[in-house]
Amino acid sequence: MQDHIVVLTGAGMSAESGLSTFRDNGGLWEQYSVYDVATPEAFERNRELVLRFYNERRRQLEHAQPNRGHQLLAQLEKDYRVTVITQNVDDLHERGGSSNVLHLHGELTKARSLDHPELIYDIGYADINPGDTCDRGSQLRPHVVWFGEEVPMLDAAAELVRTADHLLIVGTSLQVYPAASLAHEVDMTVPITVIDPDAPGSLVRARVIRKGAGEGLAEWMEKTPRGGAI
Ligand code: APR
Repeated sequence: MQDHIVVLTGAGMSAESGLSTFRDNGGLWEQYSVYDVATPEAFERNRELVLRFYNERRRQLEHAQPNRGHQLLAQLEKDYRVTVITQNVDDLHERGGSSNVLHLHGELTKARSLDHPELIYDIGYADINPGDTCDRGSQLRPHVVWFGEEVPMLDAAAELVRTADHLLIVGTSLQVYPAASLAHEVDMTVPITVIDPDAPGSLVRARVIRKGAGEGLAEWMEKTPRGGAI
């Protein structure tokens, strides 16, 4: 039976694809206030600004490519059962070849009806504009989780983390809950490896590879038996 590797990723996973992180120098939350672009109240107050923020990120994403880290995670599927649980709303894990990706915070390439949240649409890299509506005439919004909103995939993610034989944490500051709580869902016997040049100190028992996603994953894969028990 192949070991199950669960990989919890954040914005740092996509940094080497040229996408901004949130809390590094020059990150998105230095350029915008969360309260202006990433809450339901912001959407109520200034729909156009919020839609523009996500339209700009979607356009950036259209021209971004999966990086070596995304491709190495896809290669890992040759030797292990791999589940990627990502806080990222980009589609780079899928484009990099990963086949089991769970988006905790939603997906930029999808829109959903403001008043009928069960209506979700694939929009690729197209803009969402004020006045764009669902089939039932309600405004469309980005299909992403804003601050203060529920994380519907959380329980499914926690279940998956509990079945991990190894937990890899790549490119997340682990500052945002409830996503960060997943790092504590593994049994004490399950090894945790953090890959991040500036790894958060919150996981004292984790092994840390203080490198970027691409280099760090390559190092981890070199040191790990293929397909065997880790
Ligand atoms: N490779 C790996 N990690 C990197 C790289 C890289 N090349 N560059 C930066 N990092 C690390 C940083 O050191 C930091 O620990 O990526 C992490 C990015 O942290 P954040 O910017 O806080 O992003 P993230 O943890 O994904 O934020 C979580 O916050 O704003 C919300 O919804 C948003 O999903 C996001 C959540």
